[in-house]
Amino acid sequence: MFQAALRAPDHLWLRPWRFLVVEGERREALGRVMLDCLLRRDPEADETVRAKALNAPLRAPLLIVVLADITEHPKVPAVEQRLSAGCAAHAILLAAEALGYSGVWRTGNPAYDPEVVAALGGSRDEEITAFLYIGTREGTAKTLPAMSTDDFVARW
Ligand SMILES: Cc1cc2nc3c(=O)[nH]c(=O)nc-3n(C[C@H](O)[C@H](O)[C@H](O)COP(=O)(O)O)c2cc1C
Repeated sequence: MFQAALRAPDHLWLRPWRFLVVEGERREALGRVMLDCLLRRDPEADETVRAKALNAPLRAPLLIVVLADITEHPKVPAVEQRLSAGCAAHAILLAAEALGYSGVWRTGNPAYDPEVVAALGGSRDEEITAFLYIGTREGTAKTLPAMSTDDFVARW
């Protein structure tokens, strides 16, 4: 999965990404980070919201946090670095599927909270691109809405 991530398109090979593996009991520690940061953002958060934050990382056996390391560059604007990190995240999801696992990309408020980045050991230049939840699918895959490529593709 990580080999796939390292093949993300990457303008001028900046390698603007890294990956944190959170599994086992470390998911509980991440849940405590989620809760602490929630309470800093919203001290009034009710019990349901608190419990959701605390337990969020327990929804899958493996979490991969994709971090984008955004630097000033004359030729590679920040958006391209963020896109590269997004491609890396997607590569991980595709590789997980190819290996017979399943994955979901989640963000939400914790992903955009600099305190969460700091608690994960990230620098000020780093952003959370994705919390990837990886595991084995339980039950059957959901039915996906039918889409036609005609609705999205045109000849110009
Ligand atoms: C940048 C980004 C952030 C996302 N954040 C969330 C999220 O916070 N919660 C969520 O349920 N889905 C989120 N998704 C969508 C899911 O990853 C996933 O696509 C969705 O659950 C539908 O599943 P499917 O792609 O298998 O149809 C996000 C997708 C992207 C690209």
